[in-house]
Amino acid sequence: MATLLKILSFLVFLLIPVSSQVDQVFYAGFKDVGASNLTLNGVAEIEKNGILRLTNETSRLMGHAFYPSPFQLKNSTTRKVFSFSSSFAFAIVPEYPKLGGHGLAFTIATSTDLKALPSQYLGLLNSTDNGNFSNHIFAVEFDTVQDFEFGDINDNHVGIDINSMQSNKSANVSSVGLNLKGGKPILAWVDYDSVFNLVNVTLSATASKPNKPILSFNVDLSPIFQDTMYVGFSASTGLLASSHYILGWSFKINGQARPLDPSSLPQLPQPKKKHTSLITGVSVSVVVIVLLAIAIGFYFHRKIKNADVIEAWELEIGPHRYSYQELKKATKGFKDKELLGQGGFGRVYKGTLPNSKIQVAVKRVSHESKQGLREFVSEIASIGRLRHRNLVQLLGWCRRRGDLLLVYDFMANGSLDKYLFDQPKIVLNWEQRFKIIKGVASALLYLHEGYEQVVIHRDVKASNVLLDFELNGRLGDFGLARLYEHGANPSTTRVVGTLGYLAPELPRTGKATTSSDVFAYGALLLEVACGRRPIEPKALPEELVLVDWVWEKYKEGRILHVLDPKLNGHFDQKEVLVVLKLGLLCSNDVPAARPSMRQVVRYLDGEVEVPEDLKKPGGDMSHPEGFDEFLHSLASSSFDKMSSGSNFGNRDMDTSFASFANSPHSLLHGRGETRYTLLQTQQRSGSAHDFLRKVFSPPEMWGVPANGLRRSS
Ligand SMILES: Nc1ncnc2c1ncn2[C@@H]1O[C@H](COP(=O)(O)OP(=O)(O)O)[C@@H](O)[C@H]1O
Ligand SMILES: *[C@@H]1O[C@H](CO)[C@@H](O)[C@H](O)[C@H]1NC(C)=O
Ligand SMILES: *[C@@H]1O[C@H](CO)[C@@H](O)[C@H](O)[C@H]1NC(C)=O
Ligand SMILES: *[C@@H]1O[C@H](CO)[C@@H](O)[C@H](O)[C@H]1NC(C)=O
Ligand SMILES: *[C@@H]1O[C@H](CO)[C@@H](O)[C@H](O)[C@H]1NC(C)=O
Ligand SMILES: *[C@@H]1O[C@H](CO)[C@@H](O)[C@H](O)[C@H]1NC(C)=O
Ligand SMILES: *[C@@H]1O[C@H](CO)[C@@H](O)[C@H](O)[C@H]1NC(C)=O
Ligand SMILES: *[C@@H]1O[C@H](CO)[C@@H](O)[C@H](O)[C@H]1NC(C)=O
Ligand SMILES: *[C@@H]1O[C@H](CO)[C@@H](O)[C@H](O)[C@H]1NC(C)=O
Repeated sequence: MATLLKILSFLVFLLIPVSSQVDQVFYAGFKDVGASNLTLNGVAEIEKNGILRLTNETSRLMGHAFYPSPFQLKNSTTRKVFSFSSSFAFAIVPEYPKLGGHGLAFTIATSTDLKALPSQYLGLLNSTDNGNFSNHIFAVEFDTVQDFEFGDINDNHVGIDINSMQSNKSANVSSVGLNLKGGKPILAWVDYDSVFNLVNVTLSATASKPNKPILSFNVDLSPIFQDTMYVGFSASTGLLASSHYILGWSFKINGQARPLDPSSLPQLPQPKKKHTSLITGVSVSVVVIVLLAIAIGFYFHRKIKNADVIEAWELEIGPHRYSYQELKKATKGFKDKELLGQGGFGRVYKGTLPNSKIQVAVKRVSHESKQGLREFVSEIASIGRLRHRNLVQLLGWCRRRGDLLLVYDFMANGSLDKYLFDQPKIVLNWEQRFKIIKGVASALLYLHEGYEQVVIHRDVKASNVLLDFELNGRLGDFGLARLYEHGANPSTTRVVGTLGYLAPELPRTGKATTSSDVFAYGALLLEVACGRRPIEPKALPEELVLVDWVWEKYKEGRILHVLDPKLNGHFDQKEVLVVLKLGLLCSNDVPAARPSMRQVVRYLDGEVEVPEDLKKPGGDMSHPEGFDEFLHSLASSSFDKMSSGSNFGNRDMDTSFASFANSPHSLLHGRGETRYTLLQTQQRSGSAHDFLRKVFSPPEMWGVPANGLRRSS
């Protein structure tokens, strides 16, 4: 019996290695390749002529193709990864000739079913697991989009990605005279040498392998790989799309992969051509032609009537332009039922893009003067390239006559203000609030320091913080305030913002800076912690200005008294103290006394302690700054056009005064916020002060005398 068992176990032992002992693959085309030879998922498909298509030209798709069984990639005794070699032919055929979307990757992973995202994630990783060592993923990416989020060098690069979409090393494909999105087959070799711990990537347009790799990277893959791993390909499309094809693939462990012969590989599909038959002309009677002509005439007549006239510069700006018809369809004709909200810049509609079925928010900004629109749009397009997980992604735009339509990612949970003020239906707990605060801080840090140029948000506030389906805080509307600063008249400066979030130096200098963003962020911190607005007309006079109230309580050593009562006492005291103190620190009237966003992030991460002895945010007695001076500085600017009232419709007054075009009072109702636009010129006018008094302090609105707004010192 014992011997029988021994023999049995010996047989089992023999069977296992034999059944998994595959150490090479060779596919010259994928013609007779079925599910037993290749595992496909996502939209990956093998076409009739034997070409493997990972994605087609539809937005936001993913496709994966893996060899169905895992390879033994490590020596089971030494745990060292074996050398391997792979060669494949691929082609990327973009929807629009010069615009790729996004790319493909040779992939070695622990599973054939990757829980990943399309677009910049290339179907490899997602936003939660990106960068995590537990991913055990190795990829060589062939990327045709430059993602700033991951530090991509350009839109034509190859990179080595280990557990992260941030490439460990990448190379410029243009430098070897190739174009990944050229629509032509490219041969690639990926070789790993386990003695020298070296990965080489080599590219060529022909079958002969160049001696010099485009990319060499020193890495020991042993800690990254598990014993057995799946080998294959992943590809994704984003807003813009490409068809990603693999024409042939060869892979070998501990040896050179068998070379592919390009002439034996399947051909790429020819671009579709519409062919018209000549015979039709002969056989079709004159009557039909006449009918056709009428129909065509009618069609063009309608088309011209409906067309939005596209100006040449709009095409130059390029990719992210949507057609008006598409957006109209997406929002069901801008129906009121689809209205998500109304902001200071215009109405926001919910929509579903007809082709990709992506949910979007469409913001309709009306801007009657065409002047400045062009530069604004190019700015929007460049801002659209900013990517950060805590920014509301701008997907594209469309201009229709004087209207500008901006298309954003749809944020399922709406804006933050709705969860904080006026008896919210849903109350956020402290943990959620802290996550939102940190998210917004990292987005601002990215805008201020993470991009090639400094981007100033200019309008940080609770209603511009949107919450996605996971309740991550995402900053919206960035750069939009700029629209209102592109004046037709260069001698004017405009300040845009929302009362209570506006740094006091702003009206004076007229120049938004990173520290004026920090000031607004400070106001946001306080309102998230306290659950009320920075200026609360309904509050008791001593509580009217939130910063002052928090400061008073802080001085009295009872700072926790300002905390939002809706938290019911459930909070992390340490975090709450950091947030409140940081709120005071950022709200300092002196710009230089405010921390930078980088410091803010450090404080929030607990890397650095917030200083114990804070300065009074509103300055001290001998140095009265604050609201008084703020009002004063407003008063010394010219308001003659504005204050003369009847001039509001004036043509030479830019329509950026849209928010002023109503009566001053209309500014004050609504959500209790006052957005204002201020025009400063060299002229002076006596009526300005009266105007401001009307705008900023109608006693019946604030419930307190006008001087109640002063910062008491
Ligand atoms: N991307 C989005 N997804 C979902 N809802 C949005 C989005 N953008 C704006 N909204 C909704 O539309 C409202 C108005 O937005 P917005 O114009 O940004 O306001 P404001 O100008 O006051 O900042 C917001 O309060 C929010 O509820
Ligand atoms: C596909 O798999 C079958 C069965 O495993 C094998 O016999 C065949 O050779 C494979 N075809 C290719 C092209 O590798
Ligand atoms: C691409 O593939 C998807 C899913 O298979 C399909 O719905 C879509 O129609 C295809 N698009 C094109 C342009 O063929
Ligand atoms: C694993 O490594 C050991 C020691 O270097 C060697 O003897 C053995 O042949 C290796 N096994 C394989 C499968 O390469
Ligand atoms: C991200 O990937 C991880 C690991 O693959 C997975 O557990 C998680 O569910 C994924 N998250 C999302 C949102 O898809
Ligand atoms: C990495 O992933 C593991 C398992 O999925 C998880 O427990 C861990 O928290 C993640 N680490 C980070 C830094 O996200
Ligand atoms: C590769 O990059 C990842 C993520 O950036 C990092 O964790 C890892 O240490 C890098 N590996 C090497 C060998 O540089
Ligand atoms: C890539 O190479 C091309 C051609 O050599 C060059 O024009 C371009 O500036 C390079 N781009 C980068 C980011 O190095
Ligand atoms: C990688 O490239 C270098 C030349 O840059 C070459 O010396 C080395 O042999 C190559 N290694 C492999 C595994 O191809």
